Amino acid sequence: MSNPEVVRFGFIGAGMIAHHSAKNVHRHPRGRVTAVYDTNPSRAADLAAKQGVAKVCGSVEEMLADPEIDAVYIAVPNKFHAASVVAALEAGKHVLVEKPLAMNAAEGAAMLAAARASGRALLVGMNQRYTPAAQTIRAAVAAGEAGEIYHAKAYWWRRAGIPKLGTWFTQKALAGAGACNDIGVHALDACLFMMGNFDPVTVSGATYAKFGPRGLGEGGWGQSDREHTDFDVDDFATAFIRMRNGATVTLDAVWASHYPEEQKFGVELYGTEGGFSLDPLQFRHPGGDSYLVEEDLQRPLALPHGDRFHNLINHLLEGEELLVQPEQALVVQKILDAINESARTGREVVIA
Ligand SMILES: NC(=O)c1ccc[n+]([C@@H]2O[C@H](COP(=O)([O-])OP(=O)(O)OC[C@H]3O[C@@H](n4cnc5c(N)ncnc54)[C@H](O)[C@@H]3O)[C@@H](O)[C@H]2O)c1
Repeated sequence: MSNPEVVRFGFIGAGMIAHHSAKNVHRHPRGRVTAVYDTNPSRAADLAAKQGVAKVCGSVEEMLADPEIDAVYIAVPNKFHAASVVAALEAGKHVLVEKPLAMNAAEGAAMLAAARASGRALLVGMNQRYTPAAQTIRAAVAAGEAGEIYHAKAYWWRRAGIPKLGTWFTQKALAGAGACNDIGVHALDACLFMMGNFDPVTVSGATYAKFGPRGLGEGGWGQSDREHTDFDVDDFATAFIRMRNGATVTLDAVWASHYPEEQKFGVELYGTEGGFSLDPLQFRHPGGDSYLVEEDLQRPLALPHGDRFHNLINHLLEGEELLVQPEQALVVQKILDAINESARTGREVVIA
């Protein structure tokens, strides 16, 4: 990079998550957001003003041609992930793209091929892996503390958490799917990361849309310039996944339901020697004459900073290993595709 002291980011997409992300970049002493582009110029101007970003670009091309930008963060509706990522990589930029990787695995594979051809870094924004609790469980599982992990439950339940009705989130053509791909991606990815197992063989899934089409279940995320409340995605997905080593995973991804709490994000791992829970963080195992439920778990964290932007910055400046490999994000996307296909066909799907 021409300026190895600092990683200079261009942001493509200046919506809700981009504001959080700009703060994360600026918390790193060697990260800067130097430019922003959004198809909605007022959102780009708003992000520039609120997050201290000097340059608002008039087009993607202008941003990608700027030699003063080292890395591009892509936070646009899922439909535009693949084209934006490939263009940025081909322009020689490193990329952090938001989850889910893409609309489908075919797009994802093209993104990975572009990353390989460019020799640039491609990090997928699976931020739930970075939490201290997730890293603690990963470290303990990798050290064999739970023995063989043969079953896992991964879930994100919400009572009323559909992004604003009518935003791109609730339109299949722009999002690909609803709760399944939006929050299922987080629970599934965090679960497979903690298990250390990205080798699925079959998937059976079902999806429902019982709240969104009735105008119910709306939460606080998302912003829409439109009045309509189109909804043609799922608001509830459930799946059963078999891994090649015989382990099984259940996944529930729920935007809206009659759930007793406002929301609950969780992963539970069941092993031959013990079990882990993400929230509350627990290690459950026999101990002498009694059965222990340990809560104060201290394990060495791979990345104590716990931030995906810091991971990319440190990777580019100091060679820190990326916590999310794009191949793993592609496996997660294949499982999401299979859940949606299984839901459509009513049959189990074999993952190639
Ligand atoms: N990691 C997380 O926890 C997390 C949380 C929320 C959203 N996300 C992801 O971030 C992405 C953006 O979500 P959001 O909630 O910020 O959505 P948003 O609707 O608030 O923002 C998207 C922005 O992209 C702009 N846009 C649309 N098409 C564009 C294009 N082709 N080029 C440039 N700009 C374009 C829109 O004008 C809008 O300002 C999605 O992929 C979403 O899944 C991730």
